[in-house]
Amino acid sequence: MKHFLKETDFTTREAAEVFALARTMKRERGMKPGTALAGQTWAMIFAKSSTRTRVSFEVGLHELGANPLFLSKNDIQLGRGESVADTARVLSRYVHGLIVRTYAHTEVEELARCGSVPVINALTDFLHPCQIYTDAFSAAERWAGPQGDLLASLKGRKIAFLGDTNFNMASSWILGAAFFGMEIALAGPAGFEPNSEIRALLTKEKLPVTFHVTNDPFEAVTGADIVYTDVWASMGHEEETKVRHAQMRPYAVTAKLFAAAKPDAFFMHCLPAHPGEEVEQAVLDNPRSIIFDQAENRLHMQKAILATLSARRAAS
Ligand code: CP
Ligand code: NVA
Repeated sequence: MKHFLKETDFTTREAAEVFALARTMKRERGMKPGTALAGQTWAMIFAKSSTRTRVSFEVGLHELGANPLFLSKNDIQLGRGESVADTARVLSRYVHGLIVRTYAHTEVEELARCGSVPVINALTDFLHPCQIYTDAFSAAERWAGPQGDLLASLKGRKIAFLGDTNFNMASSWILGAAFFGMEIALAGPAGFEPNSEIRALLTKEKLPVTFHVTNDPFEAVTGADIVYTDVWASMGHEEETKVRHAQMRPYAVTAKLFAAAKPDAFFMHCLPAHPGEEVEQAVLDNPRSIIFDQAENRLHMQKAILATLSARRAAS
């Protein structure tokens, strides 16, 4: 059974096909009704809030001919203590796949292990691979153009990640950069360095552990093709907001910091953004900010991922 829990769950060759399919789906959206998932139902189990992920998956499933079944964790017995394993076994008898947003990454792994349908990670505390594939695609579609090799256009590019370098977006970009052959520099305050789990995963996946960590934001953005940031207090960290803000302020993406990257660098953010906190409004509004392309491309990329997983299951 093929799942998408982390960036490396597709081989590079498969990822190239998924990216190409996302480009085709973007170009052909609305031309004819999708049938890749005709007659299917996919459950979406969300334990955290979501705008982009929820809506893009619901719309995407509909456009592929499937029925999305949204279940907040408290709608089902999982929220009252039914085991993850039994939830996976039961839901697998009804639906054709699970799309899951939760806290512990081990939960999506357990759902995948115990169920018998594909599982897609829609964000955990550890990784957000749908976002990273989409982000890489959003830069690549500009660098490669309408016909060029999307994955090849990423090779050797540098991304600078600012702020909370210890959580899901930073960890997922560390893995994504290694997978796509990109360079990554991360700048954040002491105490928020990349965690040991992501280092261990790189080693396990036999990928180079070559990311650069610094406390100097200007050093990180020098030579960068992409300047990326995320909220300073992620879902689950709300109580630490005040202390995090005080520590992370030097890593805000200001117009001055963005100007220190390459002159044609993109500004990127997974959203939601907090203008005046991790990024200045002027940077969000900069013509080289591609944040809404990223948001749109979630739809196209996730449709490509859904269609690929479903085709794999049918073939197995
Ligand atoms: N970027 C992202 O995953 O946004 P949502 O939390 O709105 O889904
Ligand atoms: N790091 C953020 C990402 C939101 C898409 C969070 O986990 O809240």
